[in-house]
Order: sequence, then structure tokens, then C-alpha cells
Amino acid sequence: MRRLLITGGAGFVGSNLAVQLAKRHPDLEVMVLDSLYRRGSELNLPRLQGAGIEVVRGDIRNPEDLVRLPKIDAIVECSAEPSVMSGVDGDTGFPVHTNLTGAYNCLELARRDGAFLVFLSTSRVYPIEPQLALDLEESETRFEIAAEQAVTGVSPAGIAEDFPMGSGHRSLYGATKFAAEILLEEYRSDLGVPAVVNRCGVIAGPWQMGKVDQGVFAHWILAHHYRNPLTYIGFGGLGKQVRDLLHVDDLVDLVERQLLDPTLWDGRTVNVGGGRDCSLSLRETTEICRRLTGNEVEITPVPEIRQGDVPIYISDCRKLFGDDDWRPQRDPETILRDFYDWVLTDEDRIAQALEIKAPAS
Ligand SMILES: NC(=O)c1ccc[n+]([C@@H]2O[C@H](COP(=O)([O-])OP(=O)(O)OC[C@H]3O[C@@H](n4cnc5c(N)ncnc54)[C@H](O)[C@@H]3O)[C@@H](O)[C@H]2O)c1
Repeated sequence: MRRLLITGGAGFVGSNLAVQLAKRHPDLEVMVLDSLYRRGSELNLPRLQGAGIEVVRGDIRNPEDLVRLPKIDAIVECSAEPSVMSGVDGDTGFPVHTNLTGAYNCLELARRDGAFLVFLSTSRVYPIEPQLALDLEESETRFEIAAEQAVTGVSPAGIAEDFPMGSGHRSLYGATKFAAEILLEEYRSDLGVPAVVNRCGVIAGPWQMGKVDQGVFAHWILAHHYRNPLTYIGFGGLGKQVRDLLHVDDLVDLVERQLLDPTLWDGRTVNVGGGRDCSLSLRETTEICRRLTGNEVEITPVPEIRQGDVPIYISDCRKLFGDDDWRPQRDPETILRDFYDWVLTDEDRIAQALEIKAPAS
């Protein structure tokens, strides 16, 4: 492989991938395309350029921005409107065209060049209603998935790839990503585009521009550091909702393996996440944030459930583990600490970029 394109490469996942792959593979030409739509992505530009990465300002929605690129050997599609709240205000065009038309434009580029595509999909492809209907158990700090369930593809280890896909909505974000997965399968089987689909749970780590609707663990630490109030939204307002989380460096390790062996990975669709052992409820996250930052912030309970929210999501990664010996290496505390250490290196610029109130001294 000579030239790798990372779309959305100035974002959280894309920039970490670009910088680390460029460092590990000096002969690889890493190229990033990004529109700098996400607030804070501009902070990554000096870092990317310092790593010798060519940054192209372009919009994934515009095929012209892609066809003018030189021949590409592999693409990692990291550009997205990744918020589960996107489109609920009626502004549906941006998520649909970025997540779906953008994926189509990447598939066309991959077809032009015979390139391998690594598609970053999401756990949000799994429909919401059956997740809301799961039997849960409740401990002092969190929800757990009960052992007995009425549907297939779910167990205390999490949601697996054979969870029923047919019933109900999944948010505009999830729907556009799922539609892109379906399109990708056509390109893979009939149009000669080798591709792998990673259905990621929550990814976290340094350089994440966390906000309330995307990047919740980063958002939680930032609020503690800058001493801003938080809310426990939905499911009784107790902060017992749970997500698994994966360190971005663990994801980089997996994507690197995939890029190095396209033949092995072509045609696979796998859940990728920290799993039950690397999961946190909001309450548990609060405890770690207090310990790390030394700050305690006001947290207001809001009992109403936010649109598209689920009480628990854990990636059951046993299919992936059967395919490969990759395993997540970092635990929740390490993930949050790495993120916080990064915040401390650049707190003023991060606050400014994310329009967070500066800490009161
Ligand atoms: N971070 C997570 O927890 C998570 C979880 C599951 C899946 N994913 C997926 O991983 C990928 C990367 O997510 P992320 O967390 O790095 O998001 P991010 O928002 O940090 O990065 C996305 C990047 O895409 C760029 N972008 C957005 N619209 C664009 C457009 N129209 N044209 C060009 N660039 C555009 C943004 O400016 C940003 O730099 C996404 O596909 C997302 O759906 C992320």
C-alpha cells in the first residue's frame, strides 16, 4: 500500500489514525480530507502537518472534491455527522448527505482506484425499540443486561451482530450509517470494492472534542475540569445508563491490522468496542472524573428520556475475537486519564475551540 486516504481525518478518530499510521509506516503516504465542519477539528491541523500528512480541505458530499485526488490504495472513512441528535431539528440534509452520499462518494473513489475501504460504522445501526424493550437488572451504580431475553443477539455480554435489524427506527445517524453499510455490500459483491465494516461502540481518548450528544465521556471530564454543571438525562435521572468504551489507540491497532491484510478482512462486519469489561455508567464516570480532576460539579436529574437514547449499549465483540487475536488493551480509568492528561496540555485552546467557559481561578 502506497497511499492511504483518511476522510474526516482532522476529526477525533481520523487524526489519531493518521498521525499514528504515518509514524508507524514512514513509507506510507497518508492523506487527510476534511471540511473542518466539527468544532475543534482545526486544532488538529498543525499536528497533522507536523507528522508530514497532506491535509486537503474538502467536502465528502462533493464528488469533485474526491475525484481530483491522486490514485488511492486504501480509504478509511471517518467523516461523519456522528451525533444521534442530528436531524431532529428538521435539518436532515447535512447528516443524510454527509453520512450516506459521502459514503457513496467514497465507494465510487474506491471503485475508481481498486482501493480497500475500511468503513467506520456505529452501534447505532441496531434499532432502538428492541433495545428499549430489553430486560435489565439494576445495581447500585448501573444497569446490566439480564441473562434471559425475548430476542436473539443479546446477552449480558452485550449486543451481537445477529440482533434483529428489522424492527423500528434507529436515529437518522444510525439509519444513514446502516444504509451506507447496505450500499457498501453491493459495491463489495458486484463492483469489486474490498471492504470491512467496523460497528463501533463509544470511542474515547485524547483529541476528542466531546459534546453532550457525541463524545459523552470526554464531555463529562471537560465539564468536571472546567467546573460546568451536568445533567443525568432519562431512565429515572439516576445516571445508571451504561456504554462500553474503547481507547482510540486500541481502534488504531485494529484498523492497522485491517489495512495490512485486506484479503483477510474483506467482507467482514464486526462489532468493535470495549465490551462489558470496559464499560461505565454515568454515575461511575462521575466518580472517576471527581478523582481525576479533584472537582465536584452539580448534576441535575432530568427524568425524561432524550430522543434516540437507550439505557445500555455494550458491544458483544465475540465475532471479532473469533476472527482475530486483537483485544482492547486499555481499561476505563486509563482511557479517561489519557483524555484528561491531554486536556491539561492545552486547556485554554480546547476551551476556546469548544466555547467552554474558562475555569474560574
Ligand atoms: N467517536 C465515537 O465514539 C464513534 C462511535 C461510533 C462510530 N464512530 C464513527 O467513527 C467515525 C469518526 O468519528 P469521530 O468521533 O472521529 O467524529 P468527529 O466528528 O471527531 O470527526 C469527523 C470528522 O469529519 C469531518 N466532516 C464532517 N462532515 C464532513 C463533510 N461533509 N466533509 C468532510 N469532512 C466532514 C469533521 O469536520 C470531523 O473532523 C465516524 O464515521 C463515526 O460515525 C465514532
